[in-house]
Amino acid sequence: MKNPDRLLIIDFGSQVTQLIARRLRELHVYCEIHPFNKVTEAFLAEFAPKAVILSGGPASVFAEGAPLPPRAVFGLGVPILGICYGQQAMMHLLGGKVQRGHGTAEFGRAYVTPTEEKLSILDGWFAEGREQVWMSHGDHVSEIAPGFQVYGTSPSAPFAITADPARHFYAVQFHPEVHHTPKGAKLYENFVKLAGFKGDWTMDAYREAAIQRIRDQVGTAKVICGLSGGVDSSVAAVLIHEAIGDQLTCVFVDHGLLRLGEAEQVVTMFRDHYNMPLIHADESDLFLGALEGVSDPETKRKIIGKLFIDVFQKHAHDVGGAKFLAQGTLYPDVIESVSFSGGPSVTIKSHHNVGGLPEKMGLKLVEPLRELFKDEVRALGRELGLPASFIGRHPFPGPGLAIRCPGEITREKLDILRQADAVYIDQIRKHGLYDEIWQAFAAILPMKTVGVMGDHRTYDFALALRAVTSVDGMTADYYPFTHDFLGETATRIIQEVPGINRVFYDCTSKPPGTIELE
Ligand code: XMP
Repeated sequence: MKNPDRLLIIDFGSQVTQLIARRLRELHVYCEIHPFNKVTEAFLAEFAPKAVILSGGPASVFAEGAPLPPRAVFGLGVPILGICYGQQAMMHLLGGKVQRGHGTAEFGRAYVTPTEEKLSILDGWFAEGREQVWMSHGDHVSEIAPGFQVYGTSPSAPFAITADPARHFYAVQFHPEVHHTPKGAKLYENFVKLAGFKGDWTMDAYREAAIQRIRDQVGTAKVICGLSGGVDSSVAAVLIHEAIGDQLTCVFVDHGLLRLGEAEQVVTMFRDHYNMPLIHADESDLFLGALEGVSDPETKRKIIGKLFIDVFQKHAHDVGGAKFLAQGTLYPDVIESVSFSGGPSVTIKSHHNVGGLPEKMGLKLVEPLRELFKDEVRALGRELGLPASFIGRHPFPGPGLAIRCPGEITREKLDILRQADAVYIDQIRKHGLYDEIWQAFAAILPMKTVGVMGDHRTYDFALALRAVTSVDGMTADYYPFTHDFLGETATRIIQEVPGINRVFYDCTSKPPGTIELE
C-alpha cells in the first residue's frame, strides 16, 4: 500500500499525546506517534511527513540529555506545530530562550488574548475577544527565536501563541488537544488545512494499517486472546483474526456468571459467524463452587480473578506454543490519571483482568486498540462488520453477575437475576432508551420482603434496577427514567419473574456510589 499523506507526532512523553492523535483522526488525517528518540534524520527522510507536531512532555530543556527533535526536522520544509514542551524545544533549537519554572509553573485554565497580527491557524478564534486554554507547564519561553512573532498572550504566558508564518512554524504554550481548550480542535483543523491534508483518511484505512502492524509484530507465531464478549475484546479478536487468520485462538471463559443467553451468543458469533478457533471453557461449576458461602465483595473479586487466570492458562496451554496474548486494552486504560482503579494510591475495587499473566506465561502482548477510545473502537467494530447489537452493548464487568448479587451467590439467585435483567433490558430497548444509557442492569438484593399476589402472601427477593449515564465510567449520574417507565418495568418483572416481589430504582450517582453494587 502506498503511504498516505501523513503527519508525524514526535512524542516527548505528555500524558495527552494520544489526544492529539485523536483530534487528528476526527479530522480524517492520518498520523503516527513516534517517541523522540526513534526520530532520526534517516527516519524523517523515510517517513516523509506532510506536517509535524512536537508534543508536550514532562522534561526540561535544561536537563542533561533533554529530549529534543533532530534539527533536520526544521529543514523538511513542512509546517511544524510545537505544543508546550514542544514549543520550548523548538525555541531552544531555533535560537530563542527558555526559562526555568522557579515558582512560575502554571496549571489549569487560562485566557489568551490576541495581538494585532492575524494568523491563519487562529481562524475562528477570538470572536469574543479572548479564548480559554489549558496550561500545564513548569518552564516557559522567555525569548522567542528569530523570525517568530507573538500572536497571543496570557497574563502569565507572554508567548502563549507564537509563529514564524513564512516558514510555517507554529508554537503554543497551552494544550489545544484537551477539551478544556474549547477552540483547540479548530486550531488543529486550521493547521492540517494549511499543511494541505485533504481529510480523506477513514476508519477503513485505519483498519488496513492496524492489520499490517499486527502481521509485522506477530509474524507466523500463535496468538491467544481472552474473549469476554464485550466490545473491546470482540473488536480486538475480529481485527487480529483478519490479520493472521487461524494463528489466533480465542478462549472464552464461562464462569457461570453471565447474562441470559450470553454464552450462546458469543460462541455463535465467533465460532459460527466468524469461523474462528474458539475454546468455550465452561467452568461454571469451578467458579460457583469456589464462591459458595462467600459474601465479601473483595474476596469474591479475588477468587474470580485468580480462577480466571488459572483456567485461562490451562486452556491456553492446549493451544500449544502461543507466543502472544491479545488484549482489548484501550487508551483510557493506559493513562494513569483515568485508570480503572481510581488513581494510583487507592484501590476501590480490585478490577478483573489478566494482569500478571503475560510475564507468568512468558507471553508478549498484542494490543491493537491501545491508541483508541471507546467510540473509535465501536467505529472500528462497525468497519469490521460486527453487528450493531454487539457493538453498542453496555459494558459488562469481568466478575459478571457475582458483583450484582450482593451477599452470598446461589444458583437460584443467579437464575432469577438473569431473567429479571433480561426483562429490564427488554423494556429499555422497547422504549428506545438503550443507546442513551451508558450501562443498565439489575441486581438481586440479599433480602426477602413480603408481598401479596392474588390472594396469596409472597416472601421473595427484592431487585434493584440501575441505569447510569457516563462518558468513561469514572463518574456517572443515574438515568432519569419516567415514573411510567419505572412502574411498567416493575410490574413486568414481578409478573414475569418468579422469585421477585419488589423492585427498587437506584438513584445514586458516582461518586458517592459506584456503578456496580460491589
Ligand atoms: P464501578 O463499579 O467501579 O465501575 O463504578 C466502573 C465501570 O467498570 C466496570 N467494572 C469492571 N470492568 N472488570 C471490568 O472489566 C471489573 O472487575 C469491573 N468492575 C467494574 C463497571 O461495569 C463500570 O462500567
